[in-house]
Amino acid sequence: MYFCEPAMKKKLRIGLIGLGQRGLATLRRYAVIEDAEIVALADLSADSLERARHFLAMQGKTEVKLFQGESQWRQLCGEADVDLTYICTDWASHARMAVFAMQQGKDVALEVPAAMSVKECWQLVDTAENTHRNCTMLENCCYDTFHLGIMEMKRKGMFGEICHCEGAYIHDLRQDHGWMSYTVSDHKGNPYPTHGLGPVCQLLDINHGDKLTSLVSLSAPNKINNTLIHTLLGKTILIQFDERTPRPYSRLQTLCGTKGYAQKYPLPTIQIDGQTTLTGSAAEAYVNNQHDAETQALLQTGKELGVENLMNYVMDRRLVDCLLNGRKPDISVYDAALWSSITELSALSASRGGALVEIPDFTRGHY
Ligand SMILES: NC(=O)c1ccc[n+]([C@@H]2O[C@H](COP(=O)([O-])OP(=O)(O)OC[C@H]3O[C@@H](n4cnc5c(N)ncnc54)[C@H](O)[C@@H]3O)[C@@H](O)[C@H]2O)c1
Repeated sequence: MYFCEPAMKKKLRIGLIGLGQRGLATLRRYAVIEDAEIVALADLSADSLERARHFLAMQGKTEVKLFQGESQWRQLCGEADVDLTYICTDWASHARMAVFAMQQGKDVALEVPAAMSVKECWQLVDTAENTHRNCTMLENCCYDTFHLGIMEMKRKGMFGEICHCEGAYIHDLRQDHGWMSYTVSDHKGNPYPTHGLGPVCQLLDINHGDKLTSLVSLSAPNKINNTLIHTLLGKTILIQFDERTPRPYSRLQTLCGTKGYAQKYPLPTIQIDGQTTLTGSAAEAYVNNQHDAETQALLQTGKELGVENLMNYVMDRRLVDCLLNGRKPDISVYDAALWSSITELSALSASRGGALVEIPDFTRGHY
């Protein structure tokens, strides 16, 4: 498997593409990451660029380069003082921008999903391998504090063998009428699988001893989708998508092991054979107590800094630490490609009435 070893640096210099809702939130988040600096910005809108420039100027950062227009992001990728290209645009442009940025010698961090087709997923993998660049996906749900605690419990063997997991993106977005709702309306499967699937793949050691092999997917009216995935070791995964009904917000985060059970939604629950049965805030407190020392320290610093969302803070902090210290990011290009490929593969299965569809091994046998 390909491993990238970037040079050691004191400060990570970021070129940020896309200053919409997520991009501006990213800009605000990075204000507290002292060893990272946003040095270049690109967007379609002059107003958004001005808002972002003003925000940075208020922090005393006046040297930022601005790129406005449909194709100007390419110039940002060519800037010598950009180490990391950080992409917060709409889904259709992610893979194209990431491939170009890597070809300019930049590491890449991509919002979710990283790509919209299996072909684009392979383009990400091939380009990362050919250019020896990191290409990571910003799957913030992999840093959810409950998930981080469950991962630690899994490492300690508290669940026994994990046989089945469930994840979801269930979020009533009926009032949202932006590009995402149009893209979702045209999609036949699960267009947004990674919030549910990313954490589950980490729990099941996917790409680290096991691999996803096949799926079946069915869509109900109103864009509800259910996808069942099989792994080489015979484990199963359920991934749900629903943005168009009043169902309460949920990512499920369900784990069934031979000795224990965990779920975050709708009610945090932990059950360990012969030891513990907890629900609600008691279950959450128990899981949060399991964090390793590094995670505890990160969460403590995030609290002291008063960050809005600890999950995003841990993600940002870990990404910067990895890139500055020559470690590969937590989420590899193989993970990004695999998790994102379910976007097209679920649609393929659902449009064939739930036919079995094979899932490519993006590691080419190095899982
Ligand atoms: N991880 C999360 O929790 C989370 C939350 C929200 C959004 N997202 C992801 O973030 C991404 C952006 O979502 P959003 O809600 O901010 O969308 P948005 O529409 O608010 O912002 C997209 C921005 O990209 C810019 N853009 C589009 N094409 C461009 C180009 N060619 N050059 C430069 N800029 C261009 C647009 O001008 C716009 O400002 C999506 O991939 C979405 O899935 C992730």
